[in-house]
Amino acid sequence: MIKINEFPAKFHNPVHQFILENKNRMQIHLTDFGARITGFIVPDKKGVFENVSLSFKKIEDYKKYDIYFGATIGRVAGRMKNAEFSIDGKTYFLPKNDGFNLLHGGTPSFESRIWKHEIGKEVENQIIFTYISPDGENQFPGNLVSKVIYTLDENNTLHIKYEATTDQPTLYNPTNHIYFSLSGDFSRSVEDHILKIDADYFAVLDEENLPTGELRSVKDTPFNLKEGRKLTEVFSSDYDQIRKRNGFDHPFLLNESHFAEISHPESGRKISMHTTAPSVVVYTASHTEGLSINGEIAQSHAGITLETQVLPDAVHHKNFGNIVLYPSETFSSETHYHFSLE
Ligand code: BGC
Repeated sequence: MIKINEFPAKFHNPVHQFILENKNRMQIHLTDFGARITGFIVPDKKGVFENVSLSFKKIEDYKKYDIYFGATIGRVAGRMKNAEFSIDGKTYFLPKNDGFNLLHGGTPSFESRIWKHEIGKEVENQIIFTYISPDGENQFPGNLVSKVIYTLDENNTLHIKYEATTDQPTLYNPTNHIYFSLSGDFSRSVEDHILKIDADYFAVLDEENLPTGELRSVKDTPFNLKEGRKLTEVFSSDYDQIRKRNGFDHPFLLNESHFAEISHPESGRKISMHTTAPSVVVYTASHTEGLSINGEIAQSHAGITLETQVLPDAVHHKNFGNIVLYPSETFSSETHYHFSLE
């Protein structure tokens, strides 16, 4: 079932809210403002339904305090060193928005565009968002037609599918920036959550939070999450890479299973992630202290993201993968977040 409302906003264009609901009463709330997830409503083990994704009630708050809550990120997720890249010998210079570097495709970008929406005709509970990023937007070449397709199935899985085409060689490495907080209480830290990631390597970051190019083994480090690890242990670790970022803000190179999981024993809630992308950036929201979320004051570490993508700054590291999209190709990637109780 899909319901469409107007999102409360004093805004030049109408902004919509879409509510997808399956037979288990799980709901996914979406908006065309940034093709965002604005609600991930699931029960706890006592049957109490709550929103477990950091989100605001008013669009203005997304504009004012935004740290990309639930947003689609494009054209390129993460940081790009010196905000420049080359394709086939031609160099492009982009507007810097994070020190000397580019973060999440520039500001503003996909997260604050109003996307066109369409309701899926063949599949239940599906919304297709489309945004045509014009040639030269934030200095990226090519008209890029990008689609994000959200589908909620009856098995409590949210499917996010990305597709894109371009009329000139360009870069594309999208992600979604949902922050999970499985207690459903945004004033709490996620320190009591358990994070599991099937990854043998993580990318080491420098002082500007850019990958140095080193992919380090997780062995004997707090980055070894293969058996699951409670986040209190991570946040209190004196491991240099954790201290510098006050938690995780790091890319993990996924093993063959392409799997990660967040669980919260107190509520019994669990999110299991699968993706076709080669890596996941985990950000444990070190900057949320004092943030007012619908009147509640957040602490540091208010949520956890699982940003699936090709490793960030891939344009500057040969071993990080390819994010160049040519006119002859169609970009495609998929990420699933499955909800269950334990
Ligand atoms: C980045 C962080 C940044 C956050 C919010 C994350 O994806 O890795 O460094 O602070 O987004 O902008």
